[in-house]
Amino acid sequence: MPIKKIVIPVAGLGTRFLPATKAIPKEMITLVDKPLIQYVVQEAVNAGFTDIILVTHSSKQAIENHFDHHFELETTLINKKKTALLETLRNIIPDTVNIISVRQPEPRGLGHAVLCAASVIGDEDFAVMLPDVILNSESTDLTNMVNAFHRSNQSQIMVEPVPESEVDKYGIADCMGKALNPGESRKMVGIIEKPSLDKAPSNLSVTGRYVLSNRIMKILETTPRGAGNEIQLTDAIAQLMQEQDIQAYCLEGKSFDCGDKMGYLKATVQFAMKHSEIGTDFTRWLKDLTK
Ligand code: G1P
Repeated sequence: MPIKKIVIPVAGLGTRFLPATKAIPKEMITLVDKPLIQYVVQEAVNAGFTDIILVTHSSKQAIENHFDHHFELETTLINKKKTALLETLRNIIPDTVNIISVRQPEPRGLGHAVLCAASVIGDEDFAVMLPDVILNSESTDLTNMVNAFHRSNQSQIMVEPVPESEVDKYGIADCMGKALNPGESRKMVGIIEKPSLDKAPSNLSVTGRYVLSNRIMKILETTPRGAGNEIQLTDAIAQLMQEQDIQAYCLEGKSFDCGDKMGYLKATVQFAMKHSEIGTDFTRWLKDLTK
C-alpha cells in the first residue's frame, strides 16, 4: 500500500528563536519569500504524500490559515487583475492534498507529538518530517526513503554526518561503525537521543525525516520520558529495533537546521542565491560585499 500520510509536528514554541517567535509561529518565519512550513509541505507533496497531518497548538493558527483559501484577498486580486499573484496564492498546495490538524495538548516531546496523530494514521505506515530541517529544493531524499521502505519493508531514518562537537544536539545512529554513502540505506543497530561525545556510537545525526512502520504508534503509547524529560521518538525507534530491522538512510542533498540562527542564515543565503527572480542580483551583491 502506498504511504500517503506524513506527520509534521508544529506545536513547539520556538524558544530558540525568541523574540522573533513571540507572536508568530517559528514555522511562519520566511526564507526569502515563503514561510519555512511551505518548503517542508512542498517537499512532502513532491514525494507523493497526500495527507499532511499538522500536530499543532492553539497559538499556531497562522499555519493552517496559510494553507487555506483567503477569500477576501483572492477577490481583491481578481478585481485588480493581479493574475500572477493570484496563481501564486492558489498554488501553495494542490487541491488534491489534505491538510489535517490535530492538537498536542501539552509539550511532552516529539514522540508524544507523533502519538497525537495516531487516530488519523490508523493502521497505515507513515512518515514524519520536522519543519526545522529544510532540505535543498532539488532534494529527492524523501522520495528515496519511501522507495527504500517499500523495497526493504524496513523503516528508514534519515541521517547525515555532523562534527563531533555537535553530536549532543541530535539523535545519533549506530551503523556498526560503517560510513554511509549519500543516498544509501544501511542496517542500524542502535540509536540514542542527544548523547555526550563519549557515549555517541558515531557522528551520524538523525536529520528530521523518518518513514516508519505503523508498529511505532503502539510502542509510543508506553514509551517513558527520556532525554530532556520528554517522550522521545528516538527511544521508540530504539524499541522498534528490538522487533524489526530498521535502516539509516544517508542524506544525499543538503540540510539546514533552521531552528538555529546560523543554520537559518545559511539557508537564507543559499535559497536567495538560487531564487528565480533575485538570485543573480543577490549573488552579485554578495560577491561585492565579501570582496
Ligand atoms: C529532534 C530529534 C532528534 C533529531 C533532531 C533533528 O530534536 O529528537 O533526534 O536529531 O530533531 O533536528 P530537537 O531538535 O527537536 O531537539
